[in-house]
Amino acid sequence: METKEFNKTNNKLSVIGVGTWELSSDREENVKAIKYAVDNGVNFIDTAEMYNTEDVVGEAIKGYERERLFIASKVWPTHFRYGDVIKACEASLKKIGTDYLDLYQLHWPNKSVPIKETMRAMEKLVEEGKIKSVGISNFSLEEMKEAQAAMSKYEIASNQVEYSIITRDIEKTGVFDYCKENRIAVIAYSPLSHGKIFNNSELLADIGKISDKYGKTPAQVALSWLLHRENTFPIPKASNIKHMKENIEAADIKLGKEDLAFLSELEGKYYAEPIAKQHKKNEDKVNNYNFKEEKIN
Ligand SMILES: NC(=O)c1ccc[n+]([C@@H]2O[C@H](COP(=O)([O-])OP(=O)(O)OC[C@H]3O[C@@H](n4cnc5c(N)ncnc54)[C@H](OP(=O)(O)O)[C@@H]3O)[C@@H](O)[C@H]2O)c1
Repeated sequence: METKEFNKTNNKLSVIGVGTWELSSDREENVKAIKYAVDNGVNFIDTAEMYNTEDVVGEAIKGYERERLFIASKVWPTHFRYGDVIKACEASLKKIGTDYLDLYQLHWPNKSVPIKETMRAMEKLVEEGKIKSVGISNFSLEEMKEAQAAMSKYEIASNQVEYSIITRDIEKTGVFDYCKENRIAVIAYSPLSHGKIFNNSELLADIGKISDKYGKTPAQVALSWLLHRENTFPIPKASNIKHMKENIEAADIKLGKEDLAFLSELEGKYYAEPIAKQHKKNEDKVNNYNFKEEKIN
C-alpha cells in the first residue's frame, strides 16, 4: 500500500488506516481482519480507551515488528486531569501490550479541565517515551489553537475529525485549511459516514455511477474520494476480511477530475449531520463538552 508522510512525525503511514470503534462481537474475526490489513500493507491502527478494543488490537499485532506499526489510542475526557492522563495511558499500553503509542489523542475537548494541565501530562508522556506524538480529536478551530498554545515543547501532530463524502463540516469551519497550513494531519473518522452511505439507495446509485465505471464498489469510491483530499488519512472500520480487503484496495483507485467533481457535489444533495452533533442532541456524555471526572483504578 502507498504510504505518505504523517506530517510532523517522521513516520510514513499507509494512506488508509484501520478504525476499531464498535467492532462486531466476533473477536476472532476482528483479529483476523486487522491482521489481514497489516499483512497487506496497513501500518496505521486507531483505537481508544473508550472503545474497549485496545486488547483486540493488542492481540492482532502480536508477532509483528512493533517499529513497523503506527498505533494510535485516545484518552477519554473524564481522564483529563494530569494524574489521570498518565494512568489512562499506562492502562492503554498494558491493554495493547506495547511500551509506547505512536500517537496519543485527546478524544474530545473538555472545558471543565484546563487544557494546559492536560497538555502538561501529554508532554510528560512524550518525555518518558510512552508516547511518540500528541494528537487531538473533535477539536474546533478555536480549540485547536488553544490546545497548541497550551503546549510548551511539542506540536500537535493531528486532529481526528469526522470527514466523509457526505459530511464535510471541517471544510466549512476552517479546520481543514488550518490543519493543512500548519502541517497537522487530518485523520478522517467515519469515512463511510458510520455506514450511512449504505442506507440511502439514491446516494448509492449516484456513487454507483462512478464506481461502476471503475469496476469498484461504492465503499471503495467513497474512500478514494477522501484519499484525493490533501493531508487526509481515512480510518474506516471493518469487522471482517471481506470489508477490510475492499477498503484496502480503495488505495489503488485513481479518480479522474470530472468524476471527483461529480462526487464532490454529492454532499449538497445528501448531507449527513456529523455524529458529534447527534451525540449533543442525545444529551449523552459529550453534551456541552462538559465531562465529569472519573477516576481510574
Ligand atoms: N474520534 C472520534 O470521536 C471517532 C468517532 C467515530 C469514529 N472514530 C474512528 O473512526 C473509525 C471509523 O468510523 P466508524 O466506525 O464510525 O464508521 P465507518 O468506518 O465510516 O463505517 C463503518 C461501517 O461501514 C461498514 N463497512 C466497512 N467497510 C465496508 C465495505 N467495504 N462495504 C460495506 N460496508 C462496510 C462497517 O461494517 P462492518 O463492521 O460489518 O465491517 C460498519 O457498519 C472508528 O472505528 C474509530 O476508530 C473516531
